Amino acid sequence: MSASEAARQRVEALRREIEYHNFRYYVLDQPVISDAEYDALMAELQALEAAYPELVTPDSPTQRVGAPPAQAFAAVRHEAAMLSLDNAFTEQEVRDFDRRVRDRLEVETVEYTAEPKLDGLAVSLLYEHGRLALGATRGDGFVGEDVTANVKTIRAIPLRLRGSDWPERFEVRGEVFMPLEGFRKLNAWALEHGEKAFANPRNAAAGSLRQLDPGVTAKRPLEFYAYGVGFFPKQRLPETQAGLLACFKEWGLPVARELKVVSGVEGCLEYYRDLLARRPSLPFEADGVVYKVNRLAWQERLGYTARAPRWAIAHKFPPHEVTTVVEAVEVQVGRTGILTPVAKLKPVPVGGVVVSSATLHNFEEVKRKDVRVGDTVIVRRAGDVIPEVVKVIPEKRPLAARPVEPPTRCPVCGAEAVADPGGALIRCSGGLYCPAQLKAALKHFASRRALDIEGLGEKLIDQLLEKGLVKDVADLYSLRPEQLAELERMGAKSAQNLIQALEGSKSTTLARFLFALGIREVGEVTAQILAEHFGSLEKLMAADESELEQVPGIGPVVAKHIAAFFRQPHNLNVIERLRRAGVHWQTPQAEPRPLVGKTFVFTGALTAMTRDQAKARVEALGARVSESVSRATDYLVVGAAPGAKLDKARRLGVTIIDEQEFLTLLHQFEAPGRG
Ligand code: IVH
Repeated sequence: MSASEAARQRVEALRREIEYHNFRYYVLDQPVISDAEYDALMAELQALEAAYPELVTPDSPTQRVGAPPAQAFAAVRHEAAMLSLDNAFTEQEVRDFDRRVRDRLEVETVEYTAEPKLDGLAVSLLYEHGRLALGATRGDGFVGEDVTANVKTIRAIPLRLRGSDWPERFEVRGEVFMPLEGFRKLNAWALEHGEKAFANPRNAAAGSLRQLDPGVTAKRPLEFYAYGVGFFPKQRLPETQAGLLACFKEWGLPVARELKVVSGVEGCLEYYRDLLARRPSLPFEADGVVYKVNRLAWQERLGYTARAPRWAIAHKFPPHEVTTVVEAVEVQVGRTGILTPVAKLKPVPVGGVVVSSATLHNFEEVKRKDVRVGDTVIVRRAGDVIPEVVKVIPEKRPLAARPVEPPTRCPVCGAEAVADPGGALIRCSGGLYCPAQLKAALKHFASRRALDIEGLGEKLIDQLLEKGLVKDVADLYSLRPEQLAELERMGAKSAQNLIQALEGSKSTTLARFLFALGIREVGEVTAQILAEHFGSLEKLMAADESELEQVPGIGPVVAKHIAAFFRQPHNLNVIERLRRAGVHWQTPQAEPRPLVGKTFVFTGALTAMTRDQAKARVEALGARVSESVSRATDYLVVGAAPGAKLDKARRLGVTIIDEQEFLTLLHQFEAPGRG
């Protein structure tokens, strides 16, 4: 395999993994890996895409901000996108950041603001005539959820601003979070009342703010710190970030007490070391420090990449670590049958959160780390998510410590456990006959991004399986209201609602249907690729492995899984019954993509549209948008006050077009009736 082919496959695998974790983190609020692991995946993908720019696609996780919003709240489009921050994990990375900033600005030293990076959730608050008009979550960065009613219950957020020198209309950006004390109390209360505790303050804040009943939110100890602006009239901006935050304070908007203006990178690092030393006594969970170029005019000159400002960076704290004892090792069964060892721990507080279990990832890892029941281990919790066992402390091993053997049978269904060829993974071979896998498959089938069957949650699925009412996903569509009404916590009304949701789910898209089937290695993106390429289920089902491998983006492993899936008589039977039950979709029509293979770069401000809109429009026509000019650039689009890219393009002889020519080009190719 050539190096670039290996890179392509790795890029695809990383994207799939990142997409999955985005889904867990942003949509479900139920992450399954630590920030540190996620950041590492993203860093690897970014590095690969930097080394192989031809692999960058508009749908890469590096090219966008987050995941789409959940459906329960009204959607709101942000006036200015809510971006993310790039991360630095080492002092060197912070020095590199400072160097890039100074190089671009061509200055000797830069003043920065430094403040804690709070672990909560970002919100945008719109103030009109000094009154809170709208509160929205970040969502995918462009469209968030209207949580105004909930935001209003947070006392730290003023409903009316103090003074009168604020702009008529502007957006405040900041973090809603739960201070540690409140978090501990809330969890203590939950446990006393037999409810599930929150994994960490971030999840508690997100879960509390995204309540359909604001009455519940009101009872949660949420707080808010402002750290920036979204839409804001330019002529009203002060000179500096610190000046802006000072205005906020005057207007009654809370700002982190720890905010400081520091000089140069040394000032940043000194601040970091100081806050890190004070971390154990901070009243909230901070997962790092954020540095921002203080001068707003300089922020504007530095601008943004696709996902983050160039004028700010998050310097992450190292993860929390403690020692505790492994009391048992349990085996969990995942959707595709993967058996995951989980260490049950003597409960121990880690960075303000009580931890009682930690993932061991897989049995290879158990062997490599030589984790035994009874061992004293170091456990790490990185900001959030499932804690992991880092290593064993061999000196503390008791004589009676018991080694952990990989299972030979699935702990749920008893089917044989088989090792993946060449891999560290062990799977239950029971397939959909294993109740654990079937349950996960049903959950996946009904999930929002699959067939989106509202109201079909975990508890209900449990009951349906226990009562034997469903044995596969197709059985869902033969459920009768009177059967449902008899289930626990289901009345005639909710039964009727579920039947309606099932009915509604029958009208779907081919991509969603393919994703819902839960074919191994077929995530949303792959499902989309397959749907677009084959256009119909029949054609896809008829394709053999080699035809599948021809599809751009489908590697040999994925091709094998797809072909194997459609060979299984059980799967064919389920598909047949789903279609007979009325599950259907429209045949997707391929849009012409006349700019495929062309690369665009933008410099300077456009007047008719934003940079993001321009980007979206050329990308929709198949083109790629790059941040920097190179010989591979086909067009440089020049707006007002262009930067250094213009000189470079001239030097390299790249075609340079102005906004008017760009618009003409768009009009020429876009389907009639568009923008
Ligand atoms: S500034 C344009 N400052 O971190 C980006 N973000 O990783 C503006 N966060 O979505 C972000 N504390 O939710 C900024 N002091 C702080 C922050 C902060 C926490 C969160 C925020 C953002 C995420 C990015």
